[in-house]
Amino acid sequence: MGKDVIIACDFDSAEKTFAFLDKFTGKKPFVKIGMELYYAEGPSIVKEIKARGHKIFLDLKLHDIPNTVKKAMAVLSRLDVDMTNLHAAGTKRMMEAAIEGLTRPDGTRPMLIAVTQLTSTDQESMENDLLIKEPIDKVVMHYASCAKESGLDGVVCSPLEAEKVHDTCGKGFVTVTPGVRFADGDVGDQKRVMTPEQAKLIGSDYIVVGRPITAAADPVAAYERCVAEFVD
Ligand code: C5P
Repeated sequence: MGKDVIIACDFDSAEKTFAFLDKFTGKKPFVKIGMELYYAEGPSIVKEIKARGHKIFLDLKLHDIPNTVKKAMAVLSRLDVDMTNLHAAGTKRMMEAAIEGLTRPDGTRPMLIAVTQLTSTDQESMENDLLIKEPIDKVVMHYASCAKESGLDGVVCSPLEAEKVHDTCGKGFVTVTPGVRFADGDVGDQKRVMTPEQAKLIGSDYIVVGRPITAAADPVAAYERCVAEFVD
């Protein structure tokens, strides 16, 4: 497991995505394909980006009955993605079924990462809408532990939670952290942010960076700056 910078390719078409990726003539960055791009273009976008030599985190956050998730994961596994995810709220049984579906006949499988509580959910909405009365930090750590016990590789979490996840689930349990901004950059709609350097210090394994790279005047330079701060 290597530390890496994952670029969130939050574009609504293949055309815009390839215009962006064409700027990278040297190293092929690890890219995240989310719901917007996947639903716009379908599985072909995954195959085409993979054929260009990129690693892919397919961020579709599955959450359904165990049998459905198992079958869907088998399809994603055949797409040869490197990392994918689901909602831990689907229960341990769903997560175990997901691992079964994801595992190829030769025993290999993409990394599987759980979403705990979305960072858009706060204590108030969790209590009122989901009727979960425990402190949100405790809920996040409980979901992370359930993910680990189900055989998953790690969680998506805020950089501020990464250290505690490692304390709870061990250093080998991967933390994938969005909400990264350069010290001199725009925060935008992210509420709790860290620089790539801070994310490295607190022990994030992968940072997911979107607009600080995709909306930069020089995306390649912005990506290289992230790598220099986070990986090197
Ligand atoms: O542009 P920005 O760097 O904010 O992009 C962050 C990416 O990480 C987006 O694709 C967003 O959907 C995703 N993400 C997030 N916060 C979470 C989970 C995912 O920002 N808690």
